[in-house]
Amino acid sequence: MSQQRVLTGITTSGTPHLGNYAGAIRPALLASQQPGVESFYFLADYHALIKVQDPLRVQRSTLEIAASWLACGLDPDKVWFYRQSDIPEIPELTWLLTCVAGKGLLNRAHAYKAAVDKNTAEGEDPDAGITAGLFMYPVLMAADILVFNSHKVPVGRDQVQHIEMARDFAARFNHLYGEHFVLPEAAIEESVATLPGLDGRKMSKSYDNTIPLFAPPAEMKKLIAGIKTDSRAPGEAKDTEGSALFQLYQAFATKEESAVMAKAFADGIAWGEAKQALFERIDREIAPMREKYELLIARPGDIEDILHAGAAKARMIATPFLRELRRAVGLRDLRDVAKTNAKVEMKAVLPVFKQYREADGKFYFKLTGGSGEVLLQSEAFDSPKDAGGYISALKSMDFAKVAAAVASGQLRDIGVDAHKVEEALKILVRAEAEKA
Ligand code: TRP
Repeated sequence: MSQQRVLTGITTSGTPHLGNYAGAIRPALLASQQPGVESFYFLADYHALIKVQDPLRVQRSTLEIAASWLACGLDPDKVWFYRQSDIPEIPELTWLLTCVAGKGLLNRAHAYKAAVDKNTAEGEDPDAGITAGLFMYPVLMAADILVFNSHKVPVGRDQVQHIEMARDFAARFNHLYGEHFVLPEAAIEESVATLPGLDGRKMSKSYDNTIPLFAPPAEMKKLIAGIKTDSRAPGEAKDTEGSALFQLYQAFATKEESAVMAKAFADGIAWGEAKQALFERIDREIAPMREKYELLIARPGDIEDILHAGAAKARMIATPFLRELRRAVGLRDLRDVAKTNAKVEMKAVLPVFKQYREADGKFYFKLTGGSGEVLLQSEAFDSPKDAGGYISALKSMDFAKVAAAVASGQLRDIGVDAHKVEEALKILVRAEAEKA
């Protein structure tokens, strides 16, 4: 089987947290080590603009997310690692896809629909405060995926609809312009942890319940101390079920370590002690990466260089592909026009001679124009060779011979303007010369 392309994008709208690490970064880096996989990782900074209109935050987040990927072990020489806004082919493809994307389909996108529903519930205009950017989000995302003809896109459930839309746009484009796009598939990793946040709900920027991936140890310790627990006292048995603390521990521990912790819960470990154990377990995995992260963050120019190199590598694919797509839709070099027109004529509007035999056993020919109208109709000939002789005379514009034939009754005058016949013959002769 040929290479499978797997593509992962992270929106640069905040600071990476433990949930991003366990749910996206770690599994994506593991998957890239599989044989036969080509991995694409990118910083979705155009997507960030939809949510964040604070330039410093977009910039800071881009730096932090890039540094996080690198610190977690991404090797830019083995994968494609780039920033969305460094690839002009992405917005270019976004427009091509916009022109095949059904507006009705976009109306049904979850994020847009939720915003409309909220407005409606509040008695506002349905589109109050909604930008066209939010509306177009799925098209931009489709361009991210399709520009590299990615096969698989690992995503959370909330993003599955976007992958289905990308498939829809790709299929419509292929239908109109020929097979250019692979139809991508969402890969939902059942085994991948969705981490709970400090309050027990899913760890997410929008709930403000996150633990930054590379928080300094003292801060991480403090945040972990704030994880919501029940009020059971030391010595009282504790439930692992529904415990955010235990779930977080599990996401970083081996099976054996988790089993030991589960036993400690049953034996009534104090919450403070359990939190200390969680901190130590997470720190064991994160500390070496944190060190790298800090070095990287201190040298933003190095990251910029890595991203530029990554963009150049990605554009080796994207640039020729967009050239192909532009051609496909008709955004073409005008010098190709003559050729293109000739081709169209040959297919659709080319006059033809037809030779045929009737029930009377005699041979005939006729000349039909591009739209099927009869321009010349012969009388009957005894042999196909005689008929062919007139066709050759017509093609060589030997109208004296033709006129004589009409006069002697061998060609029927069907009242078509001689100029029209002559035009048709010229087109036919030119097309045949070009084909030869
Ligand atoms: N929408 C994704 C998110 O919010 C980020 C993203 C942008 C993405 N473009 C993508 C993910 C393409 C996968 C493929 O998580």
